[in-house]
Amino acid sequence: MSSYFQRHIFFCLNQRPSGEDCCANHGAQEAFEHCKATVKKAGLAGPGQVRVNKAGCLDRCAGGPVAVVYPDAVWYTFVDKTDIEEIVESHLRNGQVVERLRLADDVGR
Ligand code: FES
Repeated sequence: MSSYFQRHIFFCLNQRPSGEDCCANHGAQEAFEHCKATVKKAGLAGPGQVRVNKAGCLDRCAGGPVAVVYPDAVWYTFVDKTDIEEIVESHLRNGQVVERLRLADDVGR
């Protein structure tokens, strides 16, 4: 059975009211919006293709901002719009993991 979407990318957009560090303090919202726009512009949005989703805390805050691509279970951390564009083009379009942006395995909360 094929899945409805080929891939999802989830962005942690968590904002902590306490002033504790969180992805929202590191440009997560802007990256999410840029990813959504880039996926759409690339013609990758929709059934059988890619869905860009918001998420709450993904519990890997120390690497924030973070996003994860499923079903591949590949975690990313990113800095700017170019990083997001590379993830879209390389991974979401072509299935090639962007190694330079991978979140280290030992990064947790
Ligand atoms: S605040 Fe983003 S992973 Fe926890």
